[in-house]
Amino acid sequence: MKKICIIFISIILLTGCNLRKETNIDKLKKIGYDEKLSTYINNNLKEDSINYLLTHDFVSSIEEIIKNKDFKEEKLSKYIEYLDKYNFNVDDLIFVVNKEYYTDNYSEKVIKLMKEDYFIFDNLDRYLKYTKKENTKDIIRDVNSDIDNKFYTNVKNTDLSKGYLILVNKFNKLDSNYTPSNLVNIDKKYGNPLQIEKTTYEQFIKMYNDAAKKNLYLYIRSPYRSYNTQLSLYNNYVATDGKINADTYSARAGYSEHQTGLAMDLTTPKTLLGKFEGTKECDWLKNNAHKYGFILRYPKGKEYLTGYMYESWHYRYVGIEAATTIYENDLTFEEYYAYYVK
Ligand code: DAL
Ligand code: ZN
Repeated sequence: MKKICIIFISIILLTGCNLRKETNIDKLKKIGYDEKLSTYINNNLKEDSINYLLTHDFVSSIEEIIKNKDFKEEKLSKYIEYLDKYNFNVDDLIFVVNKEYYTDNYSEKVIKLMKEDYFIFDNLDRYLKYTKKENTKDIIRDVNSDIDNKFYTNVKNTDLSKGYLILVNKFNKLDSNYTPSNLVNIDKKYGNPLQIEKTTYEQFIKMYNDAAKKNLYLYIRSPYRSYNTQLSLYNNYVATDGKINADTYSARAGYSEHQTGLAMDLTTPKTLLGKFEGTKECDWLKNNAHKYGFILRYPKGKEYLTGYMYESWHYRYVGIEAATTIYENDLTFEEYYAYYVK
């Protein structure tokens, strides 16, 4: 009898203790989460996150948030803060918080812009001000390429620290006394015996040799050009063809990639620039130049971005990695630059 009493009292005491100790599940249920969700939260989230939820009011979409494939537990408090602040659907909420695209002016258009490839958060105001295009993809491409400004306005000095990735175009210019430090002489076997940047030349020779194995012969027509050479070229074009036309195919002095030593006009030994398109060498270059670090700098259909008419002959050395990305994603250097370099 005594034994039975002790067992009975022990059971009562133990049950009593259990009742007194409130579990996380109990606490979550008190806030408003149902049994199943409370158990899920308890089993899947860390103690810190559970405590955070416990100090916050009931969040009706918490299940959708924590079960979203892109949910990051360390951002839980931010999801909830942004859910409280803005009327986001869960997918947008997760996207914005994960990318850390925090602004005060979210709208359907802003979210659409943010979801585009190549969206740059720092350019957001410019995207919104740019009204020439409606499609968000076009807006991003144009603004990233700076053409929300008129050519030759808001011109900056080229950032020379970018090495082989330096950008020279109608918004980025070189000083009149800029000369590349490592120019070398071109052997007449490869083209006009002028000068070109050393690595550009070495990479050209590799490309030349591989092309020659296929009986294709490349020829460097115009490599490095000094500021003064470009000045007289451009002035001649203006004199004969007018400024508006000249600007479509010739860079003004200080704005030519040829002054970097990294650009070259390529043809075959027997073809001039205007006849290069359609040759086997031209076709081969289009699909192989990137393997040596070169890009077709002024492609067809992108004239409004580069500021120049299509030039089948103008190749620019940017290094193999950049050239491959540009080739594979069908970008201009302007588009690539904004997203990958700046
Ligand atoms: N033809 C190219 C754009 C140049 O003059 O540099
Ligand atoms: Zn050129």
